[in-house]
Amino acid sequence: MSAPKKLFIKTYGCQMNVYDSERMAEALGGEGYVETKSPDDADMILLNTCHIREKAAEKVYSELGRFKGLKAEKPDLKIGVAGCVAQAEGQEIMRRQPLVDLVVGPQSYHRLPEMEAKAREGEKVLDTDFPEEDKFEKLKNRPKAKRGPTAFLTVQEGCDKFCAFCVVPYTRGAEVSRPADRILREAQDLVERGVREITLLGQNVNAYHGAGANGDMTLAQLIWELDKVDGLERIRFTTSHPNDMQDDLIEAHGTCAKLMPYLHLPVQAGSDKILKRMNRAHTAESYLRLIERIRAARPDILISGDFIVGFPEETEADFQATLDLVEEVKYGTAYSFKYSTRPGTPAAERPQVDPKEADDRLQRLQALLTKQQREVQDSMVGRDVTVLFEKAGRFPGQMVGKSDYLHAVHVADCDRAIGDLARVRILSSGANSLAGALID
Ligand code: 5AD
Ligand code: SF4
Repeated sequence: MSAPKKLFIKTYGCQMNVYDSERMAEALGGEGYVETKSPDDADMILLNTCHIREKAAEKVYSELGRFKGLKAEKPDLKIGVAGCVAQAEGQEIMRRQPLVDLVVGPQSYHRLPEMEAKAREGEKVLDTDFPEEDKFEKLKNRPKAKRGPTAFLTVQEGCDKFCAFCVVPYTRGAEVSRPADRILREAQDLVERGVREITLLGQNVNAYHGAGANGDMTLAQLIWELDKVDGLERIRFTTSHPNDMQDDLIEAHGTCAKLMPYLHLPVQAGSDKILKRMNRAHTAESYLRLIERIRAARPDILISGDFIVGFPEETEADFQATLDLVEEVKYGTAYSFKYSTRPGTPAAERPQVDPKEADDRLQRLQALLTKQQREVQDSMVGRDVTVLFEKAGRFPGQMVGKSDYLHAVHVADCDRAIGDLARVRILSSGANSLAGALID
């Protein structure tokens, strides 16, 4: 038997890219590839890229440049670019960087085995189609390898919202939901391989409307079906749009014990003028009322969000409205970004904010968000939480896991195994994690 070929995948961007990278590794696993942690001994290098902000896209070109020496030493090395930069700039990548052999968009990666074979024969291959066939079904015959206790599962992909700043509707395409029976089969398979917690993924996950036995299902209905899967202990989902937060999903946060008290609900900005120009189709007030209803259903829920500062025509008063909204919500965690012009999106045509001003606003927003995050984390001290252990800690006998609220928790003198759930009393709060002790 010949030695297995080695595959190095580097993943950028969102959790869906992490999921996609796993699927690509499995697809190429069928062609005799095993994964390696180093590009130096790889026969194939795949960069799974992100196009959401300019910096993320630029990284790809600088990373590719670094492989020049490697490719000179190993002419058989194949280099591929996957993901959203591949989708948006496939031709451009091939032109700008001749060492790239293969470009594959997020909707075509089930075709990787054929593409790899062509690349091995010296062809340059590019596939950025949005094909009719279901890529998930094509990939379902994967090896039954044991897995860690947490996993992502894509249930919905693409977006029809067209926020004025965002490339997702162009790179990931129109919104599509996977049929429920396939998701349930995949969840069952993950549980059989050791998974205890599943995070359902979608760019607009709460707009899920996949086919079920009796017509289309909502995300809440899907969660209730997953609730019945024995051995699955925790369910999370991300990312949600405020306008798709339906009543049954809010209710499930109060009634479904497996659904974790954590919700990532991006608002992007606090000024109605800016929200309108962003084409968000909600106001600051409607978002705040929504948060109120969610907290009424599940008072201890941890709210997370995304923010953009320096969106075209944002004034100091508009930015102040974002700070006011943050003060009112009190976020447990948040991601904030300086607006980045994306070619082809409507906001790219609008008058831009002075970058220095935008930097200053980002710093002020991040200072506030960091303070809130710290307060919410500190408020866990003295409380009892459930921890799912994910790995051994740095010290002998120490284990690390995540609480229901997604805080990292370190537990000393811990006789539990990876994949175990245990009640833990939180004793202290550090820079980025909590420490606690097992409750007998
Ligand atoms: N510039 C800055 N941030 C952006 N995001 C999306 N597009 C842009 C952009 N052009 C942010 C949004 C989104 C998150 C995934 O990335 O906050 O929710
Ligand atoms: Fe992008 Fe999210 Fe808006 Fe869709 S809803 S366009 S993914 S920011």
